[in-house]
Amino acid sequence: MRFLILKKLARILFYCGIILLISLAIGITFTIGWRPFVGPKKRPLTDRHFEPTAERLQRGRVVAFLTGCHTCHTSHDWLQHGAPFIAGTELAGLELPIPLPGRIVSSNITPDPATGAGGWTDDQFARAIREGIGHDGRTLFPMMPYDEFRNMSDEDLAALVVYLRSVKPVRNPLPQTRVDFPVKYLIRNAPEPIYGPVPGPPPQNQIARGKYLVRLGCGCHTPSDKGQPIPGTMLAGGAVLKGPWGLATSANLTPDASGISYYTEATFITAVRTGYVGARKLNSIMPFGEFKELPDEELKAMYAYLRTIPPVRHHVDNSQPPTYCKICRQNHGGGDQN
Ligand code: HEC
Repeated sequence: MRFLILKKLARILFYCGIILLISLAIGITFTIGWRPFVGPKKRPLTDRHFEPTAERLQRGRVVAFLTGCHTCHTSHDWLQHGAPFIAGTELAGLELPIPLPGRIVSSNITPDPATGAGGWTDDQFARAIREGIGHDGRTLFPMMPYDEFRNMSDEDLAALVVYLRSVKPVRNPLPQTRVDFPVKYLIRNAPEPIYGPVPGPPPQNQIARGKYLVRLGCGCHTPSDKGQPIPGTMLAGGAVLKGPWGLATSANLTPDASGISYYTEATFITAVRTGYVGARKLNSIMPFGEFKELPDEELKAMYAYLRTIPPVRHHVDNSQPPTYCKICRQNHGGGDQN
């Protein structure tokens, strides 16, 4: 009798266990996914080679200054308007001086063989930039904006790598990035391999070129919540950026009255190159010190595209104290006016 009851109990427990496991599996599938346990998606490395040409070298420099490699991989003098680079640190990496979940170190991407990228293959470079897998196979912390860079065309990627190989090697030993638990597992969801070709925009189409450039260069202007862009706020500003440059919230770039509808092409080009909108000074986290290197035609294309995007009413004013904004769900200057 007792034996029978025990057997029944064991069976009930067995089925409960199965139900629990199935629920857990469904739970994991629909929440954090399996990547934190099984590792990121990654493709094997290839032996592709980017032929250095004078044209690529020149274009690669433009791509690097557009996409802000220096913003995170070079040390800056943040106290000066335009945050000039500290001599001898160009692209040599640093421990990022901002609050982050762990010790996040941007890599030395100069061609130094011992402490930089001198020993990496072209595809190790390419896979890190667009697909988020470091040269050593680990998941890169997604502050390195590989989810944006995945839109970079194959030709621009090749040009960028050719350019990076041409910069001055800097010997700069750095500590390893150490991401805190549980973030270090959750980020394994971020890398996404690229298997097919990534074409650039048609060169004759100014708006399409502008869209392409804005996507690569203006990521900070779309606010996000828990790592996801907030729907309906594309380029409407609101990312709160805090660090040695002070506190600034990215501006609304849409053609709304609360955005930049009052700009002309000339105002735009002056603002992104000099950090002045009329007499108003922009915070140096806006990389005008780098954008000043961009050719007129690229900036004109960006401006032309920005005129075509949907206007979003979102008031952001860095001269006012931070208050709660219900549009981007955080505190920023002028937030209570939304
Ligand atoms: C917003 C900051 C930011 C920007 C902009 C940025 N990076 Fe990074 N990058 C990082 C950080 C942080 C890491 C290190 C991540 C880690 O250690 O997990 C990194 C890592 C890398 C790596 C991986 C190196 C390795 O160890 O394998 C490469 C390559 C790289 N960046 C190249 C670039 C290039 C090229 C650009 C410009 C197109 C760029 N980054 C722009 C922050 C940035």
